[in-house]
Amino acid sequence: MKNSKTHLMGASVVAMVAVATTAAAEPRTNMMHQWAQGSEAAAIATLGEMYEAAGGIWEQTAISGHTSNTLAKLRSDVVAGIAPAAVQLKGPEIAEWDSIGATANLDELAAAEGWDDVVAPELTSVMKPAGSWVAAPMNIHRVNWLYSSPAILDELGLDIPVTWDDFNAACDAIQAAGYVCLAHGAADWSDATTFDSVVYGMDADLYRAAFQEADVDAMRSQGMIDSFAQLRRMVGYMDDGINGRSWEQSMTMTMTGEAAFFMMGDWTVASANLAGFEEGVDYNCNQTPVNWGGNGFILNSDSVVFFNQTDPDYIEGQQLLASTIMSPEFQVVFNVAKGSIPARTDVDLSVGGFTQCQQQGLVDLTASVEEGTLVRSMAHNMTVLQKYRGAMMEVITEFVADDSITPEEAAEQLAEAVELQD
Ligand code: BGC
Repeated sequence: MKNSKTHLMGASVVAMVAVATTAAAEPRTNMMHQWAQGSEAAAIATLGEMYEAAGGIWEQTAISGHTSNTLAKLRSDVVAGIAPAAVQLKGPEIAEWDSIGATANLDELAAAEGWDDVVAPELTSVMKPAGSWVAAPMNIHRVNWLYSSPAILDELGLDIPVTWDDFNAACDAIQAAGYVCLAHGAADWSDATTFDSVVYGMDADLYRAAFQEADVDAMRSQGMIDSFAQLRRMVGYMDDGINGRSWEQSMTMTMTGEAAFFMMGDWTVASANLAGFEEGVDYNCNQTPVNWGGNGFILNSDSVVFFNQTDPDYIEGQQLLASTIMSPEFQVVFNVAKGSIPARTDVDLSVGGFTQCQQQGLVDLTASVEEGTLVRSMAHNMTVLQKYRGAMMEVITEFVADDSITPEEAAEQLAEAVELQD
């Protein structure tokens, strides 16, 4: 009796403190993310605006470069005892930080706002790695888009390639006509983005084994050797200027009719819109080739994870930020600006400014789920931990840079690089 009374008193004191703290708190955040320039910076600015309109104080730390840089900064900040209040984080890294107890639990907010009923089912296991909500999903990005130049394809009377053989045949004709076939900017993640599409389009089961399960036998298989051989052929379809070229510059080559094709995720749509290129006029979008027929979807998703804080302003600010991200209004405004598909299934893409490519992305996502062909992207941190992804990307990017490496050697190096991480 005495014990339970003491316990009850303790609980009510805690509750009073919590109420008093909440009342005094001024919600604020400092979100760490990788969107430092162009359409990406413009898209994240919409979150800042909405957060401020909802009464929050918005600060951001944008880390230039790709995801690896943000992940490295996150790790060093956590080690230094200054974990960010909010960070753009993906895939298994979410589970990793959750498993050591570094992340804030969002279950109460999620229950109050009914997230379980509205978040796309393909995302929930990523956002709830151990059953509790620890991440707020912003979007679904499709990685396997092939952008094409209507000007070049029309002039040469070529169709959109459906298989890799079609693609190679089209590129032979395009090169013979004096155009660049495949616009590309070399970087570990963009080389890996292309290779995601190649392996998946050659053999979706191989993709699952090698890139989702990190199965080293699959990496050493003939299928992987064939995939590297296809990539080698594609390097031959690029021009000599791939080093140091950004993905936006590569995109522009296709949209201005200098190159026939560009392979990249749908953040390209956002960048194209911002630059004033018109869908159906300056470019078309189709899925990258698959040899197995049907619809394919390589999924990437941006989400925000909240690290435990002691300052009540930041704690309160996390709730406000999560709630803002999950609002239908934000999911429209942000995703229109980002080129992606909302993470909520109850958003109507026929209104609000979504492009045909974005609407087609949702149609293809649904078809791919029905056909059982959906995979997550290795290149975009959705499958294996960064240490494995980093090791794989190094092999892939080295292969693109050095044409003396044979497909057989690359497949072996891929497996060895992964084995070395264990
Ligand atoms: C991110 C996108 C980003 C793209 C290019 C992807 O990994 O998920 O948000 O636009 O990289 O930087």
